[in-house]
Amino acid sequence: MRTVLIGSDHAGYALKEALKAFLQEQGYRVEDVGVHSDSPADYPDVAHALTARLQELPDALGVLICGTGIGMCIAANKRSGIRAAHASDPVSASLARAHNDANVLCLGARIVGEELAKGIVSAFLQTPFSAEPRHQQRVAKLELSAGGEPLSRTE
Ligand code: RB5
Repeated sequence: MRTVLIGSDHAGYALKEALKAFLQEQGYRVEDVGVHSDSPADYPDVAHALTARLQELPDALGVLICGTGIGMCIAANKRSGIRAAHASDPVSASLARAHNDANVLCLGARIVGEELAKGIVSAFLQTPFSAEPRHQQRVAKLELSAGGEPLSRTE
């Protein structure tokens, strides 16, 4: 079973704990990068810790939770090789895997409830990256564009 890295700031702490238990029940190997209480914490610190670990475990997927999911997503996407997607519904989470090969899901604990969050995480973890060449090509271009190369359109 796949390893899932999970992390949150204080705003996402309660949801992280709930999702961690949910994922462990499903049989995932869950690695919690913190935080370990609801004391105020800076979301970039957690995003950087989780994405550093993901670089060591490239077959893992990550889940980052803050109040909105937005700060975590911005911070996570600063690291090379990280494709973090913010989602508040299962369809977006699934398409983030299928089309974008997203390797981190960002959730807003102040935006989605626990049951919806479980559905979003499940959709993310259960969807593989598409084998279609057009998606592979587009995802390959994400690293190039991050490096400042000129962007070209294929259609
Ligand atoms: C913390 O209050 C909040 O700003 C943070 O959890 C997150 O929503 C930032 O994007």
